[in-house]
Amino acid sequence: MTTVREAAHRLEAAGVASPLHDAKELFRHAAERSLDVNELVAARAARVPLQHLLGSAGFRYLDLAVGPGVFVPRPESELLVDAVLNAIRDVDRPRVVDLCSGSGAIGLSVAHEHPEAAVDLVESSDDALPWLRRNADGFGNVRIHHADLDAAPDDADGAADVVVSNPPYVALDERDLVDPEVRDHDPGHALWAGADGLDVIRRVVARAVTLLRPGGALVIEHSDRQGETAPAVVSAAGFTAVTDHLDLTGRPRFVTARRPC
Ligand SMILES: C[S@@+](CC[C@H](N)C(=O)[O-])C[C@H]1O[C@@H](n2cnc3c(N)ncnc32)[C@H](O)[C@@H]1O
Repeated sequence: MTTVREAAHRLEAAGVASPLHDAKELFRHAAERSLDVNELVAARAARVPLQHLLGSAGFRYLDLAVGPGVFVPRPESELLVDAVLNAIRDVDRPRVVDLCSGSGAIGLSVAHEHPEAAVDLVESSDDALPWLRRNADGFGNVRIHHADLDAAPDDADGAADVVVSNPPYVALDERDLVDPEVRDHDPGHALWAGADGLDVIRRVVARAVTLLRPGGALVIEHSDRQGETAPAVVSAAGFTAVTDHLDLTGRPRFVTARRPC
C-alpha cells in the first residue's frame, strides 16, 4: 500500500504543482468512497486534474460538480464575485447576467450570497450544460440559457445591473505555456480566444453595452498578460470608471467599469 508521502513524491516527480496537498486529498477521497488510491494517484501523476478525480471543486461557499466537458473554476475568479456583490449592494432586487457561465461558479455564487438577485446564466457548450444544470439545482433565483452570449437573455436589454464574465482568453500562441491539466482536460472552447486572446472579451464588452442599464457595472476576468489590453477594449466601447484589479498573487486579473449614465 502506497503511503501519502510516497504518493506525494510520485506526484512531485510528475510535475504536479501541489503534490502533498493533492496526495492528501486523494487519500481522503479514496477512503471516503472505498476507491483504489493507487489508481487515483496514477491518474493524477498523468496530470488528470485533481478536481476531476474528486468530482467537485470548492468555490467560495459552493461545492461545484465538475468533470470532463466543463472548465474547472479557479480561485482567482472568486474575486469577481466580490466585485459583483459590491456593485449590487445598494440595488433593490438586482439583475445580474453571467456570460460564459461554465459550471456556474460566478453566477451561482452571486445568487447564493445575494438571494434577492435574479441571475441569468448564459453558456453555449453542450458539454458544460449538464454540469451547470446540476450545480444550479435548487436555486430559485437563476435562469439557465443554453445559448451563445449574443443571443441570451433576450429580455434584459438595458435592464441588467451587472454583466459579469470569465470568458475564454488564452491566445492561440500561448498553447505551450499552459499546464497539461488545462491543455488536455479543460475544454478548448473555454480557453482559446484568437491571436491576442481578446476575441471573446471584445464580444462580451459589445454585448454588455446592450444588456446594461445606464450606470450598470461590467466585470470581466482576463489573463495576467492582458492588464492593459483588456481595459483598453472596455474603454474603447465607451465605458467609464475603467479600473483594472490584481489577483491575490499580485497579477492583473480583472477589469471593472460602468456604462455611462
Ligand atoms: C474560462 S470558462 C469560465 C467558466 C466559468 N465562468 C468559470 O469562471 O469557471 C469560459 C466558458 O465560456 C463558454 N463560452 C465560450 N464561448 C461562448 C459563447 N460565445 N457564448 C457562451 N458561452 C461561451 C465556454 O463553454 C466556457 O464554459
